[in-house]
Amino acid sequence: MKRIAVYPGSFDPPTYGHIDVIKRALPLFDKIVVSVLDNPGKHCLFSIPERIKMLRSITRNFKNIEIHSFRGLLMEYARKKNATAVIRGLRVVSDFEYEFQMAQMNRELNPHVETLFMMTGTQYAYLSSSAVKEIAKFKGNIKKFVPSIVEKMLKTKLKI
Ligand code: PNS
Repeated sequence: MKRIAVYPGSFDPPTYGHIDVIKRALPLFDKIVVSVLDNPGKHCLFSIPERIKMLRSITRNFKNIEIHSFRGLLMEYARKKNATAVIRGLRVVSDFEYEFQMAQMNRELNPHVETLFMMTGTQYAYLSSSAVKEIAKFKGNIKKFVPSIVEKMLKTKLKI
């Protein structure tokens, strides 16, 4: 049986923190399905196709990875993808409460899928998509935080 994991998120936009999690999760599974939540109720800066484009470009040299989007319940999506695990990155203690609650709820919904937390590299512990957007908005330097395609697409989006 293939070991498949889903790495879900908003990825608005993807950062080096996300890439760090993907890189470290890849050797643990036969396939990682990175999937962008398509939630029409949540305002995001980038569209789903834009976020998929960035993720595909960033991970083009990685093996055993697929990039998609999903709607609805994560546990239902994981079942459809034959995934046995969901990966979530943990940065700081404040992430924990939300993630713990979500993992417990998801286990209630589908006990066959395990949530696996990966500690983000310490150099990315402070990094978030929201912070990157904020810095970019005020014309700060984001080269340290995101790959060049993300930087380029952020500048275009924010008309900088
Ligand atoms: O990057 P994010 O925004 O922290 O990712 C959150 C995500 C996509 C993992 C979460 O919102 C999610 O799984 N949404 C799908 C809806 C769902 O399954 N909800 C039940 C979990 S309590």
